[in-house]
Amino acid sequence: MTQVSTAPTATAAPGPTGRLRALLAMSGNPLNYLTALRDQYGPVVRIPLASSELYMISDPEAVHEVLVTSHRNFHKDVMSAGRGKWAAPLEVILGNGLVTSDGTFHRKQRRLIQPMFHHERIAGYGRAFAELSNDIQSGWKDGDRLDLQAEMTELTLAIVARTLFDVPLDSDVARAIAAIPRHEGPLRWDALPFARHLAKLPLPGNKRFYESRDNLDALVYRLMAQRRQGDGQGTDLLSLLLAARDADTGEPIEERQVRDEAITLLMAGHETTASALTWAYHLLGSHPEARERMHEEIDEVLGDRLPTVEDLPRFVWTDAVLSEAIRLYPPIMGLARRPLDDFEVCGHRIPKNSFVGIIPWVVHRDPHWWPQPELFAPQRWLDTPQSAGAADELTGHAVRPGRPRLAYLPFGGGPRQCIGNTFSRMEGVMALATLGRHWEFEPVPGFAIDPLARITIRPRHGLPMSARRRKAGGVHWPGPAEHADHRSR
Ligand code: HEM
Repeated sequence: MTQVSTAPTATAAPGPTGRLRALLAMSGNPLNYLTALRDQYGPVVRIPLASSELYMISDPEAVHEVLVTSHRNFHKDVMSAGRGKWAAPLEVILGNGLVTSDGTFHRKQRRLIQPMFHHERIAGYGRAFAELSNDIQSGWKDGDRLDLQAEMTELTLAIVARTLFDVPLDSDVARAIAAIPRHEGPLRWDALPFARHLAKLPLPGNKRFYESRDNLDALVYRLMAQRRQGDGQGTDLLSLLLAARDADTGEPIEERQVRDEAITLLMAGHETTASALTWAYHLLGSHPEARERMHEEIDEVLGDRLPTVEDLPRFVWTDAVLSEAIRLYPPIMGLARRPLDDFEVCGHRIPKNSFVGIIPWVVHRDPHWWPQPELFAPQRWLDTPQSAGAADELTGHAVRPGRPRLAYLPFGGGPRQCIGNTFSRMEGVMALATLGRHWEFEPVPGFAIDPLARITIRPRHGLPMSARRRKAGGVHWPGPAEHADHRSR
């Protein structure tokens, strides 16, 4: 289907004309716009932007070619795409860490960091996943109106700070990560042309952003200095990065690179899972039958104890809820690539140095692979119907042979796929299970959800929901005070 050198028969990809219209649509509601373009023009769409062309690819086999088979022909430095002014300025905060680096340098760094994410190691974090989830609910009261987006962000930040850096949520570093402005300054410009230039203007938002980034940098460097003074036996990520030596030269990793990897993992490792949990609660709020089924499962597996990793295989429905939530609301808006050579996909020519975009939201809504794509249906993820005689055409469909693997890619695919995939899945299911023992969340009447697609996809105005203390099997579960023994620190 795809080849690196283009055949003479390859045609230009179809797509809309008019740069300004495309730009306005992209900076307004890009998700609906891009889905409509796929419906109108097919699996490869050429979209004119300010200074380059975006080629949106949404056929799963073609996506596989870009991310897996021909991955070496693609870099992530879309800053250099087109005339180089269209940019996602993630580098401004992440530097040259795992998310933003490319080529052999990236491969070397990935090999180094991968051991932190091996399955057994993550299983060791299970207790922290459950305890920190238990902590977060200790201050909630029946009837509270909570912003679940804020609560989930705090929870996932606490988890990543504890598991990867061995620091608590009220540490300076965790507070400095939370203080990085997301809605102004360079991270605000990511969907705009000339982002690189806008990020340099002396605007108040830019100023606040750079001040908080510099504060974070200083704290991370201080933490590194503390680790250096330790016995060198630390097992957290910083200790591992500081102890690592280049296999060929024996050189340690440069200070600046350790900073970049650390901040990359802190940022990439919490906002995404927070978004996944937020959307799961939004969907459960409007699907009481799915929510009740999840609570039944949690009660059956746990009673009133905290979950452990050994329980995970029994959380079949809870896991399906999470999978389906990130199908409908994939936390990462898009995967961006720059082809190093011309290539051909689905019979269309894509020039080198263009901007290739894969938008999970669009791929996950392809009716060819996802019957009734807009429907929240966790039963898609079950191997077999759960109740005798169930004749639901959706049940088991997502695990049916024949569906291309990359028709579902919330974590990307190929060698650049999310390093935190297993981490966040375990974390997500354990958080849902821990909180679901005692709480359910009702939508706030009149609140309209509005997905905001920037680097991540999250509700533009947060997610206010009413917290209700659950009564399971007619028994009122004990309040948080009675769980003080579970609290971690
Ligand atoms: C639901 C949660 C998460 C989602 C949906 C998610 C999604 C993704 C996606 C789509 C990519 C690939 C981007 C691309 O190919 O352009 C990615 C990469 C990455 N993610 Fe995640 N992520 C999640 C959680 C995490 C966690 C918990 C961590 C770390 C603790 C993490 C760290 C990373 C890193 C370091 C990369 C870059 C990997 C590389 O290029 O080698 N992510 N993530």
